[in-house]
Amino acid sequence: MEKMISVHQLVKSFDNEAVLKGLDLTVDKGEVVVVIGPSGSGKSTLLRCLIGLNDITSGTVSIEGEAFTSESIVSKSARRKMGFVFQHFNLFPNLSVLDNLTLSPVKNKIMTAKEAERVALELLGKVKLENKIGSSVNSLSGGEQQRVAIARALALNPEIMLFDEPTSALDPETVKDILNIIKALAGTGMTMVIVTHEMSFAKEIADKVIFMDDGKILEVDTPDNLFNRPQNKRTKDFLDKIIYM
Ligand SMILES: Nc1ncnc2c1ncn2[C@@H]1O[C@H](COP(=O)(O)OP(=O)(O)O)[C@@H](O)[C@H]1O
Ligand SMILES: [Mg+2]
Repeated sequence: MEKMISVHQLVKSFDNEAVLKGLDLTVDKGEVVVVIGPSGSGKSTLLRCLIGLNDITSGTVSIEGEAFTSESIVSKSARRKMGFVFQHFNLFPNLSVLDNLTLSPVKNKIMTAKEAERVALELLGKVKLENKIGSSVNSLSGGEQQRVAIARALALNPEIMLFDEPTSALDPETVKDILNIIKALAGTGMTMVIVTHEMSFAKEIADKVIFMDDGKILEVDTPDNLFNRPQNKRTKDFLDKIIYM
């Protein structure tokens, strides 16, 4: 199996305090990996280290075989292989839906304005927002904003999608729309790492589930094993505490 992501002994410290304490992880091409764990366990930091939003303190991260360490930074080419969807959308608030999708590809001279617009229209069709193309993102609902964010993350045709609690800030009735879009993406063979508290979704979509606690990966297994037969006491305690299914 081709490795899309490979993490070796990843440590990330803030002010000399390690919040990631030596993580090892691999993600194969087309694999869907779900990361669960209590708040503060380091899930967001892990995703941010993968894409270079946080530099790393020690260890290595490789994206399709291209490695970076504390001394190097993720290359532009590796960075462009990944799309990132945040809990709070992180859109450009004063811009239109269309401009949110076209700004970066055009500014970075990856696409002409015309090309970027064609790609944007196609992606907005996929997330069913063609009718909002000229609207300011401020005027959209949370679910609509997250759909724009997903379309924007797909605009550069990434090989890997990273989702950090993509439905945590949404009204319950819009959660399913977003989960269905993510499911459809998984169906296209997209490699994905998803941090989520939606356990039934995780069960359905994940090839493997990672349980993190206190900056460490304590358990990695199939969803069936991890949810039904957790081996680690802390995994079991975490699952017992949350209401799901
Ligand atoms: N920029 C930062 N500066 C200092 N501490 C941080 C920063 N980002 C995250 N942390 C700390 O790292 C730990 C892990 O945070 P985070 O990765 O956001 O956890 P999770 O996403 O699992 O809730 C927390 O204790 C958090 O306070
Ligand atoms: Mg987080």
